[in-house]
Amino acid sequence: MSFSPASGGSPDDVAQVVSATVDEWRGRAEPELQAVVERGGVVALPALPFEVTDRERALFTTSITDEQRKSIYLRAGRDGVSGIAASDTDRVTVSAMIRRYAAGAHALIDGLFPGYRAADHAIGTSFRPRAIGDVSSGQALSWRKDDTRLHIDAFPSNPTHGDRILRVFTNVHPATMPRSWRVGESFASMAARFLPRTSGLPPGAAWLLHRLRVTKRPRSAYDHLMLQLHDLAKADATYQRTCPQRSVDFPPGTTWICFSDQVMHAAMAGQFLFEQTYRLPLTCIRDVDASPLRTLERLTSRSLA
Ligand code: SIN
Ligand code: FE
Repeated sequence: MSFSPASGGSPDDVAQVVSATVDEWRGRAEPELQAVVERGGVVALPALPFEVTDRERALFTTSITDEQRKSIYLRAGRDGVSGIAASDTDRVTVSAMIRRYAAGAHALIDGLFPGYRAADHAIGTSFRPRAIGDVSSGQALSWRKDDTRLHIDAFPSNPTHGDRILRVFTNVHPATMPRSWRVGESFASMAARFLPRTSGLPPGAAWLLHRLRVTKRPRSAYDHLMLQLHDLAKADATYQRTCPQRSVDFPPGTTWICFSDQVMHAAMAGQFLFEQTYRLPLTCIRDVDASPLRTLERLTSRSLA
């Protein structure tokens, strides 16, 4: 892993990146690493590659994804993947590889953080063969979808009401290209900065969005704020340039874990990535006070879930 020094503010306020020597897709409970992720840090495991066969590696091409999609996606509990453009045989190979990554990620999280009960809280798994900035994938179309801008993750159609978004990533680039990220200031500092520019949910809006099936359940005051924080940070070019931040390069063969609803992050370069998403209720979290929900409730003096 390589890091640049923090810039733009106090180094103490920039997300911590902590390396650990886990080298198996299981492992024992690590309460200290749990504290790191729950406080908004990134845990990096530079000795934890995801092994792929030669046959699988032969399918590491951009053309294996649908033109309009940036990843091949396996929804938890489903058999089939979406976003793939391949023959039936290749589809079976890719699906099996993605399922194996999901199983590895569950075993890893269950080992490190047993209270998270990974398999119960899995949302989906993706394989991202496109290079960051590959415009044909549509990812550069709008600033809102541009993940080269620092942001927290918040999903417009999937209100969480304060549940946490935990993600496991592995750089599987077949040669030497790192996944280059920037990480930013603490969630509390980012939120304090942008909250004055947010507005409340208009009366009836949450109900209407749900009725129109824009959202899978009604948006809470929490979700409404999280979406605005995501957008306000991405839209502010001066903030992007000058806010407290550091660059982190994750070389091929590295796995990393973070709560992406809490860590300000941006993906600047890289190609070929696996990613597993979990949605964890706050009952699984030890340091609930550090969660985005409690942080926003403290800052706004309101109940938001
Ligand atoms: C993101 O979650 O914003 C992008 C992560 C990545 O593609 O490395
Ligand atoms: Fe993100």
